[in-house]
Amino acid sequence: MKKSKIVVIGTGAVGSTTAYTLLLRNRMDELVLIDANHNKAAGDALDMNHGMAFLGQADVWAGSYADCAGADIIIITAGAAQKPGESRTDLLKRNVAIFDSIIEQVLPYNKDAILLIASNPVDIMSYMAYRKAGLPVERVIGSGTLLDSGRFRYLIGQKLNIDPRSVHAHIVGEHGDSELPLWSLANVAGSELQLTDAEREEVFSNTRDAAYQIIEAKGATYYAIALALDRICTAILSDEGAVLNVSTLLNDYHGVSDVYLGVPCVIDRSGVRKIMDITISEEEKVLFHKSADKIKGLIATLQL
Ligand code: NAD
Ligand code: LAC
Repeated sequence: MKKSKIVVIGTGAVGSTTAYTLLLRNRMDELVLIDANHNKAAGDALDMNHGMAFLGQADVWAGSYADCAGADIIIITAGAAQKPGESRTDLLKRNVAIFDSIIEQVLPYNKDAILLIASNPVDIMSYMAYRKAGLPVERVIGSGTLLDSGRFRYLIGQKLNIDPRSVHAHIVGEHGDSELPLWSLANVAGSELQLTDAEREEVFSNTRDAAYQIIEAKGATYYAIALALDRICTAILSDEGAVLNVSTLLNDYHGVSDVYLGVPCVIDRSGVRKIMDITISEEEKVLFHKSADKIKGLIATLQL
C-alpha cells in the first residue's frame, strides 16, 4: 500500500501544532517538517520522535524541499504572523515574497500534491500560490473561513447550550475583517436559531474578532487552526466528500469571479471537488461582494 505523506512548510506556532495534531491523530505514515530556520524544524522533529514510544509509528523528520517528492499534501504555514493590533492584510507584502520562493522550491519536486495554504492573508496567498504554481485549481486550497465557521458554531452552541457539532452555520468571504455570517442558512436540526438580533451581533463580532483577542492575550493562534487543517487533510486522505468552508477560486459565484474566498466546498481526494450552490439573502450578497472587492483590490496591488 502507498504510504501517505504530509509536508509542513513553516514550523512556527501554527506549523508545529498542526504537525503534532496530525501525528496524534495518526493521519499519515510520513511527516516532513521544513522551515527556513532548519534548527527549529529539527528540534520539533526530535521532540515529536521522542513521543513515539507512547504513540505508535510515523516517520517524522526535518527535511529539505527535495523531501516534498511523493507527498500527498503540502501544508504551507510559513511567513510573518500578526503582532497585536495588526490585521491579516498588513502581512501581505512580507508573505508574498516568502511565498514566491517557497512555491519555486516545491515545484521541481512535486506537481501532484495538494497545496493547503494557511499563511495570511490566506485568500490572497492561496490565489497567489494557484497563479504561480500553475496547478489545477482543485489542488490549491486555502484554509479560508473553516476556522471562523468553527468559532461561529462554538459561540452559537454556547448561547443555545447545543454541541457545536450539531450547529450548522457558515462564515464566508475573506478570512478576516470583511467576512460575513450566513444567518439565513444557520440552523440546528433544520430549525431557525432562537437568537435575538443583539445576540447575533455579539456572536458574529466575537467570531470575526477572535484572532485579535487571542493574539493580544498570548501572541498567536494555533490550536484551533491546527484542528481545522487536520480536518481538511482527513477529508482529502479519506476521500470523504465533506463540506468545509475553504478558500477556492470563484467563477461567477453569486456574481463574484477571479478571487479566492471562503465558501462551502466538497472536499475529497481530488481536493475541492465542487463548490456548493447555496442560496443567500440579498443583504448577504451585498456583503459578500464587498468582501470580494476588498480582496480583489489588494490582489491588484501585486505583480502576479
Ligand atoms: P510563526 O512566526 O510562529 O512561524 C512562522 C514560521 O515560518 C517560522 O518558523 C519561520 O522560520 C518560518 N518561515 C519564514 N519564512 C520562511 C520561508 N521562506 N521558508 C520556510 N519557512 C519560513 O507564525 P505562526 O503563528 O505559525 O503563523 C504562521 C502563519 O499562519 C501567519 O501568516 C499567520 O497569520 C497564519 N495563520 C493563519 C491562520 C488561518 O486561519 N489561516 C490561523 C493562524 C495563523
Ligand atoms: C486566526 C488567524 C490569525 O486565528 O488568521 O484567525
